[in-house]
Amino acid sequence: MRYERLAAVTLTCLAATGCGERSTATKEPSPTPAASAASARDVHSYSNPAEVRVRRVDLDWDVLFDKKILRGSAALSLERPAGGRATSLVLDTRDLTIEKVESSPDGAAWAVASFSLGPSDPILGSALTIRVPENATQVRIAYETSPKASGLQWLEPPQTAGRKDPFLFTQSQAIHARSWIPLQDSPQVRFTYRARVRTPKNLVAVMSAGNDPEAPRDGDYGFEMPQPIPSYLVALAVGDIGFAPISPRAGVWAEPSVVDRAAREFSDLESMLRAAEELFGKYRWERYDVLVLPPSFPFGGMENPRLTFATPTILAGDKSLVALVAHELAHSWAGNLVTNATWRDFWLNEGFTVYLERRIIERVYGVRRAGMEAVLGLQDLEKEMAGLPEKDQILHVDLGGRDPDDGFTDVPYEKGALFLRHLEEVFGRQRFDRFLRGYFDHFAFRSITTEDFVQYLRANLLDESPGLAGKVPVDEWIEKAGLPATAPRPKSDALAPVEAAAAGWREGKIRAADLPAQDWSTHEWLHFLRALAPALPKEKLAELDTAFRLTDAGNSEIANQWLLLAIASGYDPAYPRLERFLTSMGRRKFLKPLYEELVKTPEGKTRALAIYRKARATYHPIAVATVDKIVGWSG
Ligand code: BES
Ligand code: ZN
Repeated sequence: MRYERLAAVTLTCLAATGCGERSTATKEPSPTPAASAASARDVHSYSNPAEVRVRRVDLDWDVLFDKKILRGSAALSLERPAGGRATSLVLDTRDLTIEKVESSPDGAAWAVASFSLGPSDPILGSALTIRVPENATQVRIAYETSPKASGLQWLEPPQTAGRKDPFLFTQSQAIHARSWIPLQDSPQVRFTYRARVRTPKNLVAVMSAGNDPEAPRDGDYGFEMPQPIPSYLVALAVGDIGFAPISPRAGVWAEPSVVDRAAREFSDLESMLRAAEELFGKYRWERYDVLVLPPSFPFGGMENPRLTFATPTILAGDKSLVALVAHELAHSWAGNLVTNATWRDFWLNEGFTVYLERRIIERVYGVRRAGMEAVLGLQDLEKEMAGLPEKDQILHVDLGGRDPDDGFTDVPYEKGALFLRHLEEVFGRQRFDRFLRGYFDHFAFRSITTEDFVQYLRANLLDESPGLAGKVPVDEWIEKAGLPATAPRPKSDALAPVEAAAAGWREGKIRAADLPAQDWSTHEWLHFLRALAPALPKEKLAELDTAFRLTDAGNSEIANQWLLLAIASGYDPAYPRLERFLTSMGRRKFLKPLYEELVKTPEGKTRALAIYRKARATYHPIAVATVDKIVGWSG
C-alpha cells in the first residue's frame, strides 16, 4: 500500500530543515469552522452542509477503460454543528449508479443505510438523500459512474500524443465533481481526501494531491491531500504519463513525447513561484506541478491544487503563452486558498487571479509584456460585454436557475481584475499589496462570499482613508452592469506602433513585406490581427499570408485570430488549416468563436456542420454542450 509510503515521504520532508519552513503541512490548516462566513445559500447544490458537513473523503476506484467507468466507493467523514442531530445527509450526484450505502458510528462497524435518489435535473443532477443515525460519523457509498459522466473524458489511443494507450482526465469545476463522486458539491464545503486508484498496469494515475514520480507502474496508486479543498478541485488523470523536474518543488507531467518540450516551455516555473510568494505570501501547497493533457482538454488551464491541468496548445516553443501558467499558479492564493463560496462569487476567484497573474508576469517578464496582456484583456472584455445582456455584465451575477458554466465570460475575469487594479491605483501599490497579503492570510483555507469580501475591504482599506475610498464606487463595480466611468483603461506604448502599422497597411500606405513585423512577439501579432477585424478583402489577406505564412502559424493564439479573420473575409486558402485546427484540439476558447464566426453565413454553417460531424466525438462533453448550441446540432 502506498499510503504509508507517501506519508513517510512527507514526514521525512517535513523533518528536513528548509522544507518544513516552507510547508504548511506542519500546522494542519483548520477547515472552515461550521459557523464561519461560508454558509451562504448555494443554489447549485442540493446538499445541507449547515446541518451535517463532510470533512474528509476516502476514495477507492477501479478505472475501467473498456467500459469507460469508474467503479468503487467514497467514504465520507461527517461533522455536525455543536448540538446538531441531523439524520439526513443530502449529497449531489449526476448519472451515478448507487450500489450500496452504509453508515458507521466509528469507521469500524458498518450498517446498511437506506437512501433515495431524487429526480434528475438537467443542471443539478439528482439529490442522494441518505438516512444516517444520529451517532453516525461516516457514510460509505459504493457506486459507479456513467460512460457519459460530464466530468470525465475517456480518450481513445488516437486522441493522445503516443497513440498507443487510452487516457482519462477529470474536470470538476464548476459542478461536475458530482458526476464522478457523490458529495456535497458546493465550493463552501472543504474537505481533505485520500484515494486509492487501480489502473491498467502500464498506466500512471495522478491527482490534485501528493504525487510520487518514483511510484512503480504497478497499476495501484495511493494519494493524500492534507489541505482542505472544495469539491471542484478534486482531479484525476490516468494515462501514459511521465515527469520532468524543473526545481525541487516544481515540475511537469505529460505524455513521454511531450514532457521535455513542456519542461522547456515552463522552465520559468520556479521564478514564477518566487515572484508570487514575494507578492502574496508563502506558497501553501508544498509542490506545484503542471500536467499537460491531450489536446481535447476543453480549457486552457485548471488550477487543480498541486497539479494544474493545462492544454498543450500553450506549448508555443517561445514561452509566449505562459501567462496561462502564471494564472493557474495565482489560483493557489485566489481560489484555492480563498475560495468563492458560491458560483455567483466566481469573480472572487477569477478577477483576483487575473490581477495576480499580471503582477507575476510583470515581475518575471517585465512591464512591457504585462502591459500588452492587460490591453488584450480589456479588448476581450469590451468585445464580449457589448454582446451580453446587462444582467451578465455584473460581477456579483445572479445565476439562479442557470448552469454556472453560463457565468463563464470575461466579466468575472477582466472586469474583476480592473476593479482590483482600480483599488491599486487609488490606494497605491504598496498599501494595496499589504491589503492583499492580509486578505489571503485572513481567509486562508476558507470559502467566502462577495459580501464577506466587501466587509473585509471596508474594514481593512476603505475605512482607513475615507477620502480615497470616495474615489472607488464599490457598489457600482460589484452590482452594476458595464464599467464605471473611472475604470482604469490599460494602455501599452509597445502596441501603439502596431496600431499605426495596421492602419498604414490596411489603407495601402505600407506593403505587407515592409511591415516592421520581424521582431513582433505573439502579443504584437494578436494586436495587429485584431486591429484588422472584422474583415478584409481576400487579396489583402493573401498578401499578408504570402509575407508571413500566417495560415501555417504554429502558435495557437495567432492561428485562432488569423482563422477568425479568414472566415469573416471568405479567405478560402485558410480553410484546410481551419479544419485541421478544429479537428486537432478541443479547447473551448478557440472552438466557440470559430464556430460562431462560421455559422454567420449559410456556406459557413454547412462547413461548420461538416467539420463538427467529424470532430464532435473527440470533443469533451463541456465543449460539445457549447458547440451543439452554436451549430444547432440535432444529430
Ligand atoms: N478555473 C478556470 C477554468 C474554469 C472556470 C473551468 C470555470 C470551469 C469553470 C481556469 O483557471 C481558467 O480561468 N482558465 C482559463 C485560462 C486563463 C489564462 C484565463 C481558460 O481555460 O481559458
Ligand atoms: Zn482561472
